[in-house]
Amino acid sequence: MFIVIEGIDGTGKTTLCRFLEERLVREGYDVVITAEPTGGPIGELIRRKGFDPRAEALLFAADRSCHTADINEWLSRGKVVISDRYYVSSLAYQGASHEGMTDWIAMINEPVIREPDVTVVLDIDPEEGLGRISSRGENSRFETVGYLARVRENYLRIARERGYRVMDASRDRNETLDEIMKMIREE
Ligand code: TMP
Repeated sequence: MFIVIEGIDGTGKTTLCRFLEERLVREGYDVVITAEPTGGPIGELIRRKGFDPRAEALLFAADRSCHTADINEWLSRGKVVISDRYYVSSLAYQGASHEGMTDWIAMINEPVIREPDVTVVLDIDPEEGLGRISSRGENSRFETVGYLARVRENYLRIARERGYRVMDASRDRNETLDEIMKMIREE
């Protein structure tokens, strides 16, 4: 089972992934938590340095290609994989960086991805999300309200088009976890 948690910065994806792992482990599953950008050389490079939008999209896809190989390996060993971001992040973020790049981003990602069994998009107002991040002193170059508002619109549109579940990031975490666990059991 391959589960992906998506959403703009400040939605609490990382914390939710940890709590989800805890629940799944309690139910006896063997779980791997992973994230994008990865901690591999390409992921590290993207975090360190800015590139022009096309180079950036290609680097995210290259990082993802290595990541997908790892994910396939974990899944083949019977693990449940939870990923904090995957390819929808590129559609939403790089799609918001440059109008007209969306089709090309989908095209370069298509060969390097594996469709997740469950994708959840956490949703929050960008101002609130940014407020949560600034209080942690973690703002990065990807984060301004105007940009995140466009990223959020992309997420909501993609979720509508592809049938991904959107969950309110400000509600009680246990309710969100219950809903995700139900989706997992129904898979
Ligand atoms: P993180 O804060 O979740 O670790 O992610 C770092 C930033 O990378 C975040 O602002 C979103 C951005 N990002 C993209 O722009 N495109 C992508 O494909 C991915 C995976 C992340």
